Amino acid sequence: MSGIYIHIPFCAKKCFYCDFYTTISTKYKNEYVKALIKELKQRQNYIEKKEIETIYFGGGTPSLLNPIEIQNIIDEISKIYNITNNAEITIEVNPDDINLKYVNELKDTEINRISIGLQSFFNEDLKLMNRRHTSSENINAVKLLQDKGYTNISGDLIYGLPNMTIENWQKNLISFFDLGVPHLSAYHLTYEPNTVFSKFLKKGKIKEIPEENSLKQFELLISEAKKNNFIHYETSNFAKEGFFSRHNSAYWKQKHYLGLGASAHSYNGKSRQFNIANIKEYIKRVEEGSGYFEKEELSITDKYNDYIITSLRTIWGLDLNFIKDSFGQKYYQHIINKSKLLLQQENLYFENKKLKISKKGKFIEDSVLLELFY
Ligand SMILES: C[S@@+](CC[C@H](N)C(=O)[O-])C[C@H]1O[C@@H](n2cnc3c(N)ncnc32)[C@H](O)[C@@H]1O
Ligand code: SF4
Repeated sequence: MSGIYIHIPFCAKKCFYCDFYTTISTKYKNEYVKALIKELKQRQNYIEKKEIETIYFGGGTPSLLNPIEIQNIIDEISKIYNITNNAEITIEVNPDDINLKYVNELKDTEINRISIGLQSFFNEDLKLMNRRHTSSENINAVKLLQDKGYTNISGDLIYGLPNMTIENWQKNLISFFDLGVPHLSAYHLTYEPNTVFSKFLKKGKIKEIPEENSLKQFELLISEAKKNNFIHYETSNFAKEGFFSRHNSAYWKQKHYLGLGASAHSYNGKSRQFNIANIKEYIKRVEEGSGYFEKEELSITDKYNDYIITSLRTIWGLDLNFIKDSFGQKYYQHIINKSKLLLQQENLYFENKKLKISKKGKFIEDSVLLELFY
């Protein structure tokens, strides 16, 4: 089973922390959608299996497309692939795009999962991040989606924001869990180069929170999620039983996916492909049928390192037998040697014959992963 990711690179406004490939001009929107469908046809053989279990409209802001455009893309996919009966079809939306008309139109599509970028329930935070919605719009948008029958909803929150206190983060978490939404993606703010936040940081306009506060906020996130019966199934992802994101889980379980659109990535077990991150060039080259992506053939070491990152970040953990069978004795011996100390230090532990990162290890996750790399 495979997945399809569709990148919609338009945003009404650029958030100050974000470095995803997006543009605030929608001038090329119609041509872009046409190019997406053309790319789908051109690259239909990239993934071997014709069964599609998950489709994900990500961004950018896919809710800047109207639901008819979204359904047209799904229809085109179903002309080529067999979309399974219980496929998970997700759209990322921004709260201020969610109104009665939009949701009524969305109900006529095959979208069955909504991921909504809430980010914070404090208007000061939303303003600081240059978001275009308020806290009450967050709440109204979720309630409207729920009233119209959507149950499979995920919310994004950001913590570790400048000046964010542990008390405010707790209030944000309480507001989130009060909504009765079954999935949470919570990301610690990262200062990406070339974002407004990075510039503010350099100029001293904002300050990073102390590391101990970051850790406290992460700990609080884990404990509040547990209290609300959410399972911490991936570093930044929490869900009630039955509501894990099947699309993202497929990435972490090394399943194959076709990524369509400017800047989209694809993976088919042999190679990764990266589409050009420029709308105009993307449209032009798709029209011409000329190269619009870079291809990276994966070596065994690349695949081993990918497996380390993706498996250890999840609740399912790392299977040593899988390492031996897929990558060979050399890599198996490497991980046995490298994990000894991390096991002694209780950064790693074994459960059901799988190697997993402990709560202690999660706080230094990047260095644990790096230690195990080949
Ligand atoms: C690709 S964005 C798309 C969601 C949608 N466009 C929105 O903004 O609501 C996915 C999520 O990544 C998170 N994110 C993006 N950049 C981040 C950063 N620098 N630090 C922390 N979280 C970030 C945000 O929570 C965002 O909702
Ligand atoms: S966070 Fe979302 S809305 Fe904001 S710029 Fe990034 S993709 Fe666009």
